Amino acid sequence: MTGVHLTWPGRHAPLPPQNHALTPLLTLPGRPDVGTARLLAGQALAVLDRLLQEGAAGTIDLVYLDPPFGAGVSWPRRRDVQTATGRAAQNVVAYEDPADDLVDWLQHLDTVLARVHTLLSPRGSVYLHLDFRRAPHARLLLDERFGAANLRNEIVWAYGLGGSSKDRFGRKHDVIQFYAKDPRHAYFAAPLQKATSQRLKGQAKRATDVWQTPHAGADAPIEGAWPDSLIDLTLSNSDSQRTGYPTQKPLALLDRIVHASLPPGGVALDPMAGSGTLAVAAVRAGGRVILGDRSAVALDASRGRLVALGATLQLDNVDGALTVETLAQPAARRNGAQVQLLPLDMAGQGVDALSAWGVVDAHGRALAWWDGGAERTRGLVPLTLSLPAGEAQTLLAMDTAGQLWRGVVL
Ligand SMILES: C[S@@+](CC[C@H](N)C(=O)[O-])C[C@H]1O[C@@H](n2cnc3c(N)ncnc32)[C@H](O)[C@@H]1O
Repeated sequence: MTGVHLTWPGRHAPLPPQNHALTPLLTLPGRPDVGTARLLAGQALAVLDRLLQEGAAGTIDLVYLDPPFGAGVSWPRRRDVQTATGRAAQNVVAYEDPADDLVDWLQHLDTVLARVHTLLSPRGSVYLHLDFRRAPHARLLLDERFGAANLRNEIVWAYGLGGSSKDRFGRKHDVIQFYAKDPRHAYFAAPLQKATSQRLKGQAKRATDVWQTPHAGADAPIEGAWPDSLIDLTLSNSDSQRTGYPTQKPLALLDRIVHASLPPGGVALDPMAGSGTLAVAAVRAGGRVILGDRSAVALDASRGRLVALGATLQLDNVDGALTVETLAQPAARRNGAQVQLLPLDMAGQGVDALSAWGVVDAHGRALAWWDGGAERTRGLVPLTLSLPAGEAQTLLAMDTAGQLWRGVVL
């Protein structure tokens, strides 16, 4: 305790963890050289409590938190639906970041940090990603929960795009607060590379242990300020990494965090995962990752990226957060070793709006699966898949707004 304590109207100690129901939805095999990912559909607190319920206290090595910033923005996802008068556009909320909920936000963050502290292993670290709006409040909460002496870095990620104004200086950086649970045992391995630039070549080891940047001759020592020229160019709208999910962070930013703080064989956690950038960095490094989100659109983006990488994937529903619509009519027909998707009209969308479909057994294990992966513009969905002999009777499909559909295989 620092002696300085943040208070707000109605502040109370985090409530004890509650039990939450879990339904397995889908298990997909992956490539052995890629890591494994568990996606939990649900509210962040329910996901964290569920992990505690499963006995995960003290087992997580890296937590990345990228919660709402209080920006006062709502991002919709457009979906096309068939109406009586023709095709029409409908908006579903992809991500909402309200501006006016500071008290609730603080109470929620306080409880999240309490759970995260319990879940972290002795070698574990947490990175909390915010901007100028709420980073100062969060810093005091982190000091209370983790101990002010355990702040390792306040990282400034400076980026190029956005934030300009005629009335003030440009707002062009985020703040990432990095705390170790216990600095005596914390894992930290900055992924260093030898300098190649003329300027640093041949210098003493300390000075030559630098990040090699994508820009020739721009090597520099690692410090707490990370201009995006050292990480990546800010994700432009046309960047090939773009999933279309709002507030997506560049992979190079999360690569740096994963390489520094995820020990070999360790487990990473991102309970507000959005498009799953932390998860992508972790599985590319061969690690295990648990990610959660309450947004179906976010889960669709994360699943697609992880499947495209070849990650072994498990999708579980916490408290039924992801609604699963049951199709009244049969959805597919089994024909020997093949299963054929029937030309269904899912909520008026038509099958071409699916991002994935397949046949699962009673435990959600995929027996035949097609996935649009990370493609932003989905191609035509194959209507026939090969199906091994088995008892599978259930079709599972996901549309491009993340809605899940379950149907009978004839
Ligand atoms: C800033 S975005 C994360 C972006 C992500 N780092 C990326 O690179 O794509 C925050 C995410 O947190 C999710 N979220 C916000 N509040 C949540 C809550 N209470 N429980 C679960 N998810 C939440 C939102 O749906 C959103 O996807």
